[in-house]
Amino acid sequence: MNDCRAPHILIADDNAADLCLLRRILESLSADAVFINAAAGTEVLPLVDSGKPDIVLLDVRMPGMDGFEVCRQLHEDERFREIPVLLITGMDSLEDKLNGFRSGAVDYIVKPFNGEEVKLRVNAQLKLKRYRDELRTMNRKLQQAQDALVANARMSAVGSLAAGISHEFNNILGMIGGYVQLCLEKNDLNQMYEILCMVQTLVGRGEHIVQGLLGLVRSNRIKGHVKTDLVDLIAQTVSLMKKKLSDAGVDVEIIKREVPLICCSPGEISQVMINLMKNAMEAMDPQREKKIFLEALRDKTNPNYVQLIIRDTGYGMPEKVRERIFDPFFTTKGVTGGGDNNSPGTGLGLSIVANIVENHKGIIRVASELGSGTAFTIFLPIDPAEPVSAPPVSP
Ligand SMILES: Nc1ncnc2c1ncn2[C@@H]1O[C@H](COP(=O)(O)OP(=O)(O)OP(=O)(O)O)[C@@H](O)[C@H]1O
Ligand SMILES: [Mg+2]
Repeated sequence: MNDCRAPHILIADDNAADLCLLRRILESLSADAVFINAAAGTEVLPLVDSGKPDIVLLDVRMPGMDGFEVCRQLHEDERFREIPVLLITGMDSLEDKLNGFRSGAVDYIVKPFNGEEVKLRVNAQLKLKRYRDELRTMNRKLQQAQDALVANARMSAVGSLAAGISHEFNNILGMIGGYVQLCLEKNDLNQMYEILCMVQTLVGRGEHIVQGLLGLVRSNRIKGHVKTDLVDLIAQTVSLMKKKLSDAGVDVEIIKREVPLICCSPGEISQVMINLMKNAMEAMDPQREKKIFLEALRDKTNPNYVQLIIRDTGYGMPEKVRERIFDPFFTTKGVTGGGDNNSPGTGLGLSIVANIVENHKGIIRVASELGSGTAFTIFLPIDPAEPVSAPPVSP
């Protein structure tokens, strides 16, 4: 029954006088109530099907098919199961009342009728039916809203993924562009060869990212992990950035220490370092020493972890910026390059970094001091597939 529909009441009784009396009692419930009459049990199901009543009142004793059988058949049919059925029984027939409940009736009315009682019982069941219908409608709407939300979230996930991929390829193409430019300026074949090797490595990185994405679709990231020497990976990544670093006049120092091999995706960890070094370069103060330190060491408090530290002597960041740096699309660089240092930012670099670290079951922390520099520390488990407790790190 919907909100605006008048109640539809089906009464089945072979005794025309009783049927008429019941109808008169119930007419006072609602001026526009619609009544459907059945004179035999066999008429009820087709009438329920066509008239869609909100409630059915069934006399127990009817020739052909009695009230219990009709009630049972209504209850077994899932189209009609939700329609409340009240049985009309004799005054002291306890057995009839019990059989009625057993066959699926929700209540009963006794003969001879007490008008007030009949109205109260029928009204209570009509109300319950209305609440159930409203609840079902609300649930359906909620489900539709939830489906729409999921579809939206999927679309925005696709959007951020596309933005993330563009960001990475932009970095790679920028570096390739720089090397190609250098190549064009050189006449020395040996130098050109060296430069082309760098370009080849970058193309490999691009391929690796695509592979990583395919791996993501196949949703088994740990599979692509290999035992990696972090110190070697730092050296390789720094050499990839060599041209950009020297163009920016930034000096790099790799602090070498004993570190165990770690199980990771080297392409992704190198991507992390590139993003952090790029940020460090862009945060340099022209008036001060421009330096980036990279260091890998075993974590003292939890030897199942290593730390990868990338520290710069840049201008640091205020608390307000630090709080938001991992938010996707947060940037202080201006999206068209009009920001602090002329190079545009998408604000995705650090969210990609955080994502990769999280996929490695690692933790990233940042410490920054205005005017002195910033240090990112990444805690990586030696093997992300092994369940180990995280190292105690301060926020
Ligand atoms: N080493 C750093 N020193 C000072 N500020 C930093 C440093 N690293 C990040 N930030 C701040 O964090 C913000 C977000 O960095 P993120 O790498 O996510 O985006 P972005 O660098 O602005 O853009 P993109 O990575 O696309 O170039 C930067 O805009 C900058 O304000
Ligand atoms: Mg960045």
